[in-house]
Amino acid sequence: MAKRSVVLNMVLIVMLSLVATISWGQSSSKREDYTTLRLHAAKEKVTSLQFYFHDVVSGKTPSAVRVAQANDTDKSPTFFGALIMADDPLTETPDPKSKLVGRAQGLYGSAGQHELGLIMAMSFVFTEGEYNGSSISVLGRNAALNPVREMAVVGGTGVFRLARGYAIAQTYWFDPATGDAIVCYNITVVH
Ligand SMILES: *[C@@H]1O[C@H](CO)[C@@H](O)[C@H](O)[C@H]1NC(C)=O
Ligand SMILES: *[C@@H]1O[C@H](CO)[C@@H](O)[C@H](O)[C@H]1NC(C)=O
Ligand SMILES: *[C@@H]1O[C@H](CO)[C@@H](O)[C@H](O)[C@H]1NC(C)=O
Repeated sequence: MAKRSVVLNMVLIVMLSLVATISWGQSSSKREDYTTLRLHAAKEKVTSLQFYFHDVVSGKTPSAVRVAQANDTDKSPTFFGALIMADDPLTETPDPKSKLVGRAQGLYGSAGQHELGLIMAMSFVFTEGEYNGSSISVLGRNAALNPVREMAVVGGTGVFRLARGYAIAQTYWFDPATGDAIVCYNITVVH
């Protein structure tokens, strides 16, 4: 009886010290997070960017290519199941020969069966001026036939670390015969 209670006590002590270690570990990492957040909040700013996205799917040197599809993609009115890999130039003005400011690299896929709804998973990588080497990650639904649509900015790197915000896309030019498009992007981020 006495032996059993010593063992029980020992088990209890070990359990209590485990609980103490775990809760101390949690509060200390929380403290660290708050400090980082406070430091970050102090210098947080809002940046607005505007550029033009050139998606060329036709011709000998397309910037966006279909890399996968479902069996019935070509029978679907929305090309449901098509997955496209893009490395699209981003320029300062709608003119494709205007100054290159970056590239949109990533995937978009047809995710809507009844209405065109693209799923965009893209990095906008900048190559000019103060944003050179920094990037913004966009993830969201793009109802590309609507004149204006909104996608979420879910992160960034470099100048745009911890970015959050939104991207407004507006088609500037679209060729229904080839599918080529020029899209104006206005991005607002807090970072
Ligand atoms: C896709 O098509 C191929 C060839 O027509 C067929 O063998 C295959 O079973 C189909 N797969 C599905 C998932 O329908
Ligand atoms: C951008 O950064 C790269 C790598 O650091 C550098 O080679 C390039 O010259 C820079 N471009 C501009 C326009 O500053
Ligand atoms: C994009 O930004 C420009 C310049 O600020 C503005 O004129 C235009 O209306 C904006 N476009 C959209 C769709 O919000």
